[in-house]
Amino acid sequence: MVSFTQLLTAGLLATSAMALPHAHKHTHKHVSKRTTGKRGAAYNDASTVQSLGNNGSISWAYDWNMVADGDLPSGVEFVPMLWGSKMFGEWFSSIETVLSSGASYIMGFNEPDMSSQANMGPSEAAKHYTKYISPFSGKAKLVTPAVTNGGGDSVGLNWMASFLDECSDCKLSVLAVHWYGESADEFKSFVQKATKVAEEYGLEETWVTEFALSTATTANSDMESSAEFLNEVIPWLDSQSGVGRYAYFMCADGYLLEGGGLSVSGKAYTY
Ligand code: BGC
Repeated sequence: MVSFTQLLTAGLLATSAMALPHAHKHTHKHVSKRTTGKRGAAYNDASTVQSLGNNGSISWAYDWNMVADGDLPSGVEFVPMLWGSKMFGEWFSSIETVLSSGASYIMGFNEPDMSSQANMGPSEAAKHYTKYISPFSGKAKLVTPAVTNGGGDSVGLNWMASFLDECSDCKLSVLAVHWYGESADEFKSFVQKATKVAEEYGLEETWVTEFALSTATTANSDMESSAEFLNEVIPWLDSQSGVGRYAYFMCADGYLLEGGGLSVSGKAYTY
């Protein structure tokens, strides 16, 4: 099947020679794209990262997994994650391999404060973290489990604070959070709260490893509002000294990508 983008490209090239100078200008814009080294790709299929990352605007990527599962574009650093207890069996052999091929960070459990995700209480998580992740602190910098922005006593940053109390000997360097919500203002205030928690516990920086408007969590939904949201929050994240890295949800068709190229939000993300 011929995609809309292919039709459009064919149409542009066929109708006028004006298409060429335009394409040329576009290439220059790509080269000068801003890179702060913070921007990442959260992906399931490694081949999609090429569309987002081949212009140098992405410096790292993760796939909620221990291994990259395919080739990432050159210059894009893979970050392994120990998602949760379902991975414990293969963890030690996989992580040794990934570390020996150059990984320099390890991400902790995915949303332990959600029953449908890694589902662990803070002390259980601290016990598992100590066993499975802390032993690698000499080889990589260690990232906390990534919590949601849930506001209850035992979720979100409250879960995180209890975990950090329990895991004071875990050799952590980075705090990780996720955010889904309604507005750029709400996002900024949550990220600021997270960076304060990181500071209080002596961690070096905060990573926002999933975020999006709540209305944009399924494919092809609310792309225009997402682009507007990203236009505001990406330069802001880049300017926050406490934020080390971020990855929007997510690098896939219908989100940051559309028909093999960047979607309207993908363009805003990699401005
Ligand atoms: C899940 C991951 C999954 C990702 C993207 C996350 O919520 O925990 O396992 O790969 O969503 O679909």
